[in-house]
Amino acid sequence: MDPDQPVDPALLEDLCAMACWAPNHHRTEPWRFAVVTGDGRRRLGETLAALLEAEGRDPSKVAKSRTKYLRAPAMIVVGSAAGDHAVQTAENRDATAAGVQNLLLAATSAGLASFWSSIAPNDAPPLLELCGFDSGTTVVAGVYVGHPVGEVSTPPRRPPRITWVGDDPPSR
Ligand SMILES: Cc1cc2nc3c(=O)[nH]c(=O)nc-3n(C[C@H](O)[C@H](O)[C@H](O)COP(=O)(O)O)c2cc1C
Repeated sequence: MDPDQPVDPALLEDLCAMACWAPNHHRTEPWRFAVVTGDGRRRLGETLAALLEAEGRDPSKVAKSRTKYLRAPAMIVVGSAAGDHAVQTAENRDATAAGVQNLLLAATSAGLASFWSSIAPNDAPPLLELCGFDSGTTVVAGVYVGHPVGEVSTPPRRPPRITWVGDDPPSR
């Protein structure tokens, strides 16, 4: 994607709105979004680099995390709120992951490139504070969003692993 071609902020907001149509048990609406653009991308990188450094991580990994978010014009950091109990917290995360997939599909449908990456550590207070997330929130995704450059190579086939219980599988 082209890091120098900004994405319309209204479109970034629309992508977050599409995420919110994911199923969520008891309508907890657990998703939280931080739209990180411009200098915010550097601040996100610095925040994570400081956390990794404090954990004694490999200096090359620390250095990479400082600049990696500058590779896209926008990062959407998606968090999942804690539930009232462990099962609800787990289901909130399932729902938030479904929301992230909606967001990716909406980005593709808008002609944008996107990429789901992990952000680690995903529950550190400085990260949550930067993103405006409550404590107890877990960051589920850092989604790179931008305008595509070039074509994507054809992905490998992904045969579904299905156990048929009852009917026989179709013969193809
Ligand atoms: C929860 C989750 C976390 C991921 N984290 C990373 C990551 O940190 N770095 C990475 O290269 N790919 C990560 N991926 C995988 C990519 O998003 C992508 O699915 C993978 O590169 C395969 O590409 P494709 O989906 O276009 O075939 C993650 C995927 C998921 C679902």
